[in-house]
Amino acid sequence: EDKVSVGLLGVGVVGSGVISLIEKHQEKIAHQLGCHVHVKSALIRDPNKSRHVEADLDGTVFTTNADDVLNDPEIEVVVEVMGGIEEARESILKAFASKKHVVTANKDLVALYGAELHEAAERNKCDFYYEASVAGGIPILRGITDGFASDHIEQLMGIVNGTTNYILTKMHNEGVSYEDALKEAQELGFAEADPAADVDGLDAARKMAILCRLAFSTYIDLEDVEVTGINGIDLADLQYGDNLGFIMKLIGFAKFDDKQVEVNVQPAFISKQHPLADVKNEYNAVYVYGEAVGEAMFYGAGAGSMPTAAAVISDVVTVIKNMHRGVTGSQVVEPRFKKELKTEDQ
Ligand code: HSE
Repeated sequence: EDKVSVGLLGVGVVGSGVISLIEKHQEKIAHQLGCHVHVKSALIRDPNKSRHVEADLDGTVFTTNADDVLNDPEIEVVVEVMGGIEEARESILKAFASKKHVVTANKDLVALYGAELHEAAERNKCDFYYEASVAGGIPILRGITDGFASDHIEQLMGIVNGTTNYILTKMHNEGVSYEDALKEAQELGFAEADPAADVDGLDAARKMAILCRLAFSTYIDLEDVEVTGINGIDLADLQYGDNLGFIMKLIGFAKFDDKQVEVNVQPAFISKQHPLADVKNEYNAVYVYGEAVGEAMFYGAGAGSMPTAAAVISDVVTVIKNMHRGVTGSQVVEPRFKKELKTEDQ
């Protein structure tokens, strides 16, 4: 076939990036796949909202009815970038039931319903990928699954929330107050609609749950992640740490020793010598320690239209490669370790 049709659910910041980037890099994508990728239809929930799509739209149909995407037999891959939980979950389950492969950027959904969605994908012999759900443009899920396929990851530390890293950087480097730094982060557009999810650490906890499932091949529920946010941190705290050679970061920390998994998110003082200390502003980074590899660090843009869209499209490319090879795949294989392997006190 010379064209694979994709259906898009959501044309917000990420969705418009997906349309634009597929058009822009069509030639490179076609070269890898031997076919073109076409966004055949796109669900928009609010037709009056203004959108920024840098593409000559080549026949993409915009609709306000999800069924136009989910019931179209020509559409083989559904890309969910509308966010939220319930509607997104139902749409993805419907897509699997119609034997469509799914790519999503929805960290909230994958953190909460990852097991259910994987099960539905497998039952329907569909692909399910979500690279963009953690740390935006950084290929971290591929990195820890494919890159560490033969290794044993012992420890993982992540700065996986851009908003809080921005706030802590501004407070530490420029003495900006917590409130003003949060306001700036909101204006720059990477804070969640309700920034409580950022500052209370919940957004980072969701991403850590997803990362740990893949890194440790074990099933981690969101409530297994202990969370403390950065609310209540003041400039004086940062100053004391600075005097002693430390910098405060909201760190997602996870340790695994084949018997026990420990995952938490908390504001922590790290040495200014640690590679994560140099991760500034809204940038994300994940530091991984593998028994064979030793230290590795993945760094880059954890949010934003184009970086996140690039991660989404890399999944679409993987799905189409799988289709051509006649195999199905997903971000994760069956966990080797089940729940009882988690913390001893649970
Ligand atoms: N609110 C998130 C952040 C956006 O600040 O990192 C990307 O998931």
